[in-house]
Amino acid sequence: MKLLKASNLSKRFGNTDAVKGIDFHIEEGRCVSLLGPNGAGKTTTLKMLSGLLEPTSGSIDFKGEKAKDLRQFIGYLPQYPAFYNWMSGKEFLVFAGQLAKLNRKEAEKSSEELLERVGLTNAKKRKIGGYSGGMRQRLGLAQALIHRPKLLILDEPVSALDPLGRREVLEMMREIKEETTILFSTHVLHDAEEISDDILIINAGEIAISGSLGSVVGESRQPIIQIEFESQPADWLKSIASYSFVSEVNIQGNKTNIVLKDMKNGKHAILKDIVDRKLPIRKFETAQTTLEDLFMKVVKA
Ligand SMILES: Nc1ncnc2c1ncn2[C@@H]1O[C@H](COP(=O)(O)OP(=O)(O)OP(=O)(O)O)[C@@H](O)[C@H]1O
Ligand SMILES: [Mg+2]
Repeated sequence: MKLLKASNLSKRFGNTDAVKGIDFHIEEGRCVSLLGPNGAGKTTTLKMLSGLLEPTSGSIDFKGEKAKDLRQFIGYLPQYPAFYNWMSGKEFLVFAGQLAKLNRKEAEKSSEELLERVGLTNAKKRKIGGYSGGMRQRLGLAQALIHRPKLLILDEPVSALDPLGRREVLEMMREIKEETTILFSTHVLHDAEEISDDILIINAGEIAISGSLGSVVGESRQPIIQIEFESQPADWLKSIASYSFVSEVNIQGNKTNIVLKDMKNGKHAILKDIVDRKLPIRKFETAQTTLEDLFMKVVKA
């Protein structure tokens, strides 16, 4: 069932068309990642869905009805969350609960449950000012969930975290997605591949790709040879682009990714070149293109 549907959604800031009439929908129970380069329009889109920004045009339907005030259905964690550092974690959650129209008792109860859930029970009386980045982000998640929203929207929930904090938040999201629909933006494609069911790639204010992760990556999947050289054989790399089985050559320092149309013939011919020309390789690997390769292709286009 469609939980949310955006139709022809646009946002213009002065002369900038940040979001250009996009259409997409979110199925209930799915975990959806919103991907796109800096400035693509991710935050603007998420803010419109959360009711923090008025769309310039277009509409948002929630469960098939025109949405007016979605705040009771949506929990939102901003890209740069601001906390009152002088409050304790618990005080902050109770405050957030009351802002979300829970009464004091409900807010207290929900706060305790969520503190437990995000692993902050022992730190609940400490001032937020003394929390680590990972703890703050977990508190942010608890805040967004305080009123049991139907849809949890997270704007880059892990980008400011170290690997440990990132792991913690991803684990939380993995648990939350069992009961709440999630839409989150990220630059970390690996995370998107790890936990999302569906993906939306937005580029320059337009949806470039949408669909289930499996179908989107599966349909675009191509065989690839990854070679690491001791020193880069520039002339040879230039020449292989003309081979009929090569569709793309991507060079990054001493590493080269060769995207192939045909793995069997391609692998054979490239290995033969390497031997015949005594090319100084350190590593030779065959693989498949990933979400990152697809992302690069879409964004560069
Ligand atoms: N309040 C604003 N006033 C003017 N322009 C804005 C405003 N907010 C966003 N923009 C512009 O809209 C475009 C989309 O910005 P947005 O923040 O939505 O991108 P993003 O995909 O979230 O980027 P990032 O990955 O850097 O967070 C950018 O060109 C940005 O400069
Ligand atoms: Mg953003």
